[in-house]
Amino acid sequence: MLKNDTNWWRQAAIYQIYPRSFKDSNGDGLGDIKGVTEGAKYLKSLSLDAVWLSPFYPSELADGGYDVADYRNVDPKLGTLKDFDEMLSALHAEGIRVFVDIVPNHSSDQHEWFKAALASKPGSKERNRYIFRDGKGKNGELPPNDFVSHFAPSAWTRSKNADGTDGQWYFHMFAPEQPDFNWDNREVQLDFLKTLKFWSDRGVDGFRIDVAHALKKDFTRFNKSYTKIDSMNVKPNGKDILFDRDEVHEIYREWRKLFDQYNPPRVAVAEAYVPASRRTKYASPDELGQAFNFDLLTTPFVARDYKRIVSENLELATQSGSSSTWVLNNHDQVRTVTKFGLPKGTDFNQWLLTDGKSIKVDIELGQKRARAAAMFIMSLPGSTYIYQGEELGLFEVADLKPTDLQDPNWKRNVVLKPERVFFKKQGKMITGVAEIHIEKGRDGCRVPLPWTSTGPSFGFGSAHAHLPQPREYGPLSVQAQAKVAGSTLDVYRTALKLRKKLQTTEEFEWVKTGNPQVLHLSRKNGWHCITNFDGEDFTLPKGEILHSSSPLKGRKLPKNTTVWLKA
Ligand code: GLC
Repeated sequence: MLKNDTNWWRQAAIYQIYPRSFKDSNGDGLGDIKGVTEGAKYLKSLSLDAVWLSPFYPSELADGGYDVADYRNVDPKLGTLKDFDEMLSALHAEGIRVFVDIVPNHSSDQHEWFKAALASKPGSKERNRYIFRDGKGKNGELPPNDFVSHFAPSAWTRSKNADGTDGQWYFHMFAPEQPDFNWDNREVQLDFLKTLKFWSDRGVDGFRIDVAHALKKDFTRFNKSYTKIDSMNVKPNGKDILFDRDEVHEIYREWRKLFDQYNPPRVAVAEAYVPASRRTKYASPDELGQAFNFDLLTTPFVARDYKRIVSENLELATQSGSSSTWVLNNHDQVRTVTKFGLPKGTDFNQWLLTDGKSIKVDIELGQKRARAAAMFIMSLPGSTYIYQGEELGLFEVADLKPTDLQDPNWKRNVVLKPERVFFKKQGKMITGVAEIHIEKGRDGCRVPLPWTSTGPSFGFGSAHAHLPQPREYGPLSVQAQAKVAGSTLDVYRTALKLRKKLQTTEEFEWVKTGNPQVLHLSRKNGWHCITNFDGEDFTLPKGEILHSSSPLKGRKLPKNTTVWLKA
């Protein structure tokens, strides 16, 4: 059962479920809501405080569900609202809270509002829920400006009028199937309040807010040139054209008022790709309350970098009145095991584009480091996030076939080049156009979980999975690891269980180790965490050994290993 504690989120362990790849209950190859219910006991065995479900709403899957056609429903491919309610009760009964993902920057082009906008005239109230503009050029054949999108080259797509003629252009920061909302429109604002209320009334405990930093745009500067896409690098003054504008915070202050009407108040975490100094605003108690700290996503397994990031973020969290979050991986990132198993400095996208053939990953090393990093972040004050499959030590599936890939990053980032090829049968050179993909995309970290060692999709379901699993996923399955002492799953289970028991106030201290490769931190109640990132074995100080991420050598801590001690 759930404890009535308004601060439950401050130091929670939260597990991200990517529903389409978690568990398939009906054998159609796609994970579903009932699959999550079936997984309740497993989730309980991980001693989690909460799960966050990536979008499960009706969607054409142009962007893995982040193109939402109806914010207050369940995709029929994944189940029904009744299934959702049952899942929520099942998880609550196990003491696990539930976050859902809110995607407010854009909808799907299949959303009824967008369909209505296309069917309506320029200047209509239907069009004003989105961002429509006339094109440039004699016949409006050129996009209104040069803004770029994350997926397609241009952030503009020309619409067709109801009579089939070319019409206005609409703005999309992501794929053309994801038109951006006009957040200056009160109707849009009210509709999202309705959505938040809808899920809160159903008993949902929290929300993960997608692209929280981009809702407000400066339309007065849509006549300027602007080709930035990296929101981390915009001037941190709240005045950029597209990202991290100061007015976005008005939205979240209004949301907070709604969250606080519930008991316990609903919580939220912002996905805001903004410089660390600006993150605190999103995380402040009168707004969303927490924001993802993504600093470790791109950090190699290096003591100095980890130390700096931890110190900085704990300081920032204190300033905002929030607690920090710790994230090693999510559905947008190359799997941690693979990142840590490749040489430092590897360009992951380039590596993926060779199907992972250009450099061999040291999976064992990657898993060792990933476990050490996981136990390190779990010992820090704040919330710890675990992306499904990290607890199994899953690696990135780098060699998915082009025909299997689903990510718009792969599909849309294409350049065409003329190519002359000799065809034997025709006995001549033929000139055609070849596609060159410049991004491999994120499917390799979204391959379904292996539950059993054998079976058509390793127990994910009775059919083949929507993204094929490699043979090597069998030995990494839940079944294969469950009873093996020292397996990644075993290390996670023990660590998370202990973490719950040891959890204490949010103070923390660095302890000097005299070795730059070794970080030692201690919590108020005598809980110590020591990580040896590299180099010589490190002789442990006094204290009872509680748990380690890999075997110790007596009282020596080998490199790539974390140990927890009780002083
Ligand atoms: C977020 C999601 C990502 C999605 C994008 C557009 O960054 O995490 O998966 O593609 O938003 O909605």
